[in-house]
Amino acid sequence: MDLIHRALLTALGAVSVFYALVKISLGYWKRRGILHEKPKFLWGNIKGVVNGKRHAQDALREIYAAYKGKAPFVGFYACLKPFILVLDLKLVHQIIFTDAGHFTSRGLYSNPSGEPLSANLLQLDGHKWRSLHAKSAEVFTPTNMHKLLPTLTQISARIQCDLGKENQQTRNISELVGVYSMDVMASMAFGLGGQDHQEFAKWTRNYWGGFKLWQAYLALEFPLIARLLQYKSYAEPAMAYFQKVALSQMQEHRRRDRQPLQTFLQLYSNADQPLDDVKIAAQAFGFLLAGLGPLKATLGFCLYELARHPELQDRCRLEIRKTLEQHSGQVTPECLRELKFTKQVLNETLRLHTPYPFLLRRATKEFELSGSVFVIARGNSVLIPTAAIHRDPEVYEEPERFDPDRFEEEAKRSRPPAAFLPFGDGLRGCIAARFAEQQLLVGLVALLKDHRYAPCAETTIPMEYDNRRLLLMPKSDIKLSVERVD
Ligand code: HEM
Repeated sequence: MDLIHRALLTALGAVSVFYALVKISLGYWKRRGILHEKPKFLWGNIKGVVNGKRHAQDALREIYAAYKGKAPFVGFYACLKPFILVLDLKLVHQIIFTDAGHFTSRGLYSNPSGEPLSANLLQLDGHKWRSLHAKSAEVFTPTNMHKLLPTLTQISARIQCDLGKENQQTRNISELVGVYSMDVMASMAFGLGGQDHQEFAKWTRNYWGGFKLWQAYLALEFPLIARLLQYKSYAEPAMAYFQKVALSQMQEHRRRDRQPLQTFLQLYSNADQPLDDVKIAAQAFGFLLAGLGPLKATLGFCLYELARHPELQDRCRLEIRKTLEQHSGQVTPECLRELKFTKQVLNETLRLHTPYPFLLRRATKEFELSGSVFVIARGNSVLIPTAAIHRDPEVYEEPERFDPDRFEEEAKRSRPPAAFLPFGDGLRGCIAARFAEQQLLVGLVALLKDHRYAPCAETTIPMEYDNRRLLLMPKSDIKLSVERVD
């Protein structure tokens, strides 16, 4: 009996401590006197997101719409973790540009000693990120991006082969653009030339291994303990594979000198004071992590919208054909610059289907908002809800309508500077934005030049997103009818 009593008392004590801890965590914004969304026990304000009933972008959009105009930012909780959601575009501009020095961190987990490939530009913070960023800025220069263009065009030729000469067929577009995006990563980030990319493709699908949300959450909250316990974010065999490939390709490059510039590995190795090889391999993995999903998603969403708007598709094709003709069929940097309407279509796709629906920052210093009583405390996590801004009717009239004319020069100038941020911006913006745009345009040239796309019985309209992923992805593969045009 005594034993049962003691067990009951211990259980009651543990539940009370847990309850008190949850209550303390969920009382953060109230204690700070900051306007906030009332949290639910344990889930905070994202219950529907955790159980897969809605996409994170919808939950953020709802909070944004409910509080915009009432304060420059609002507090909310992702489970027990307090976040600031920025509501005011002037504050967005300050955080990203003018006061970016207060917000150089993202607060993601990385464990460079136990998991060397996590020491990449996306995951690192602090002085390690700073020096890596300086090195990477030397790599992603416009001149270097132009040097990589011929390799990109070569890779895009496979799209034409994959589409073949058959007339009118239903095609899995997600698969088609997925292969192109993966080939680019395999070749340009990891140096896997024209070889078979089957094993590479296998590991790009499986590197999360047995990912558990609650473990990742604890690692984010308690990174020092997670590092002490050697918590690893990715599957070890996948990391071993990516590291082996990158290191062996770098050795291969060194054996054969005087080869044309084709990969990021070469660009990093050729720097004045190059990083060591494992750190370069970590960057290759970081590019895969940050870039593969959004590239594939954007090309898929773009073809989906063009299939639904045949008049815009014809305009794009006409522009592509005319421009290619003026450049003797060659995809040169000048040729890409002249594809103005196609670029507008891409931007409108990125506005309506923003692959990263929010930007993340952590305040590294206390930040007082000018002319107000509000303070962002050191260590606060800050979310900039880009997808919500991109669909704000006060910024974009009839936001659900697909209208590339919104990106004509004059229309762009009429909007506030932080109104369009698919690549983020400022110090921690996407370092590869220029490369990504180039890759997307080259892909579109190959896809649209000789083929027409239309919805078919298997096309899901309206678009449904995969709620289990933070990155915006279609719920099921995009399928369209494809026809060759002469
Ligand atoms: C459609 C394609 C892409 C989109 C929409 C995209 C978008 C983004 C966004 C929103 C961020 C966070 C920016 C911020 O916090 O301000 C980011 C960061 C990053 N992206 Fe991209 N990205 C794309 C393609 C790529 C590609 C192809 C690569 C690599 C070759 C890449 C490499 C990176 C890296 C390394 C970072 C972290 C930069 C840092 O923290 O210093 N991205 N990207």
